[in-house]
Amino acid sequence: YYEIEPSIIKNEKVIVNNFLNLNEIAPKNLEAILEDASKVKKAALGKFASKERYGNCLNKRLTGLLFEKLSTRTRLSFEAAVLKLGGQVLNLRKDEIHLGHGETLEDTSAMFSLFLDVLVLRLYEEEKLYEFSRHSKIPIINGLTNQSHPCQVLTDIFTFQEIRGSISDKKVVWLGVANNVFQSFLHAAAVFKFHVVFSGPIKFHPSTKMLEFLNGHDESVLTVEQNPIVAVQNADLVVTDKWVSMHDDKLRKSDLDDLENFKVTKQLLDYAKQDVLFMHCLPADKGQEVSRNIFEDKRCVVLKEAENRMHLQKSILRWCLNLF
Ligand code: CP
Ligand code: NVA
Repeated sequence: YYEIEPSIIKNEKVIVNNFLNLNEIAPKNLEAILEDASKVKKAALGKFASKERYGNCLNKRLTGLLFEKLSTRTRLSFEAAVLKLGGQVLNLRKDEIHLGHGETLEDTSAMFSLFLDVLVLRLYEEEKLYEFSRHSKIPIINGLTNQSHPCQVLTDIFTFQEIRGSISDKKVVWLGVANNVFQSFLHAAAVFKFHVVFSGPIKFHPSTKMLEFLNGHDESVLTVEQNPIVAVQNADLVVTDKWVSMHDDKLRKSDLDDLENFKVTKQLLDYAKQDVLFMHCLPADKGQEVSRNIFEDKRCVVLKEAENRMHLQKSILRWCLNLF
């Protein structure tokens, strides 16, 4: 009577809607999330009558957040999204649970499945994210790993489409370092059929693993162009990110010197299409990968990107929990 269900420990295969990487989610589901986000955003801004439709849709469901790394936007936008949809949020502090200190990931994941309805993870190792999902009975959302940042990039697609219409066939130029956010852009390019041009020093080019992902995809998904001026010509969207991510070592002076050519400035953006947009997921090292004055340029939409995080998180949660 008081025995723990063996299945809780053993993990029977349970099919749930995990949000792990964009290339693993069916395009029709990603489209559905984008469509839902647009309705959810309109409702949040009071733009249509059915505001109440979303006000309590999570109906006290409990979202857990476990972050191994720092976060301002992802944490805040998930917390706000959950609370505004009538859900509840629980922050699981990594220094207050047994995970990694005498309890396995498998057992931790089983415990999370007992008490939570959905779990957002920000981890170092992507493998750990997948291990969590293998042992979980509740949906897992990838809130960034060393390799990917799908919630951010889906928001970026939403933001671009909100301002400029379909991103399909558009030219997206990534400058600097081929990092985790870049990898999610590659995944998105394959799904949403846009072209990515990477421009950065050879040392920071896309890794072999990233290139392997392109096997079997249309070749035009990715082009590498050494000259940043040539790269941005005709660009619809220019994107960059910090040169040093949270999991990276400090850069050497010679690397910083090499990267300097790929800094996003107003002058560089002038080579792109006249209606080009500039995105950066933030936080930024102002003056390093971007000039300080870029943030007041009308082509820069970083605040819109950040604001849209919450609307997208709502729809990601709603999809994971089968609410549409
Ligand atoms: N862009 C982004 O994910 O920011 P945080 O690290 O603040 O969550
Ligand atoms: N590439 C950055 C993104 C932060 C949101 C990092 O991983 O630190």
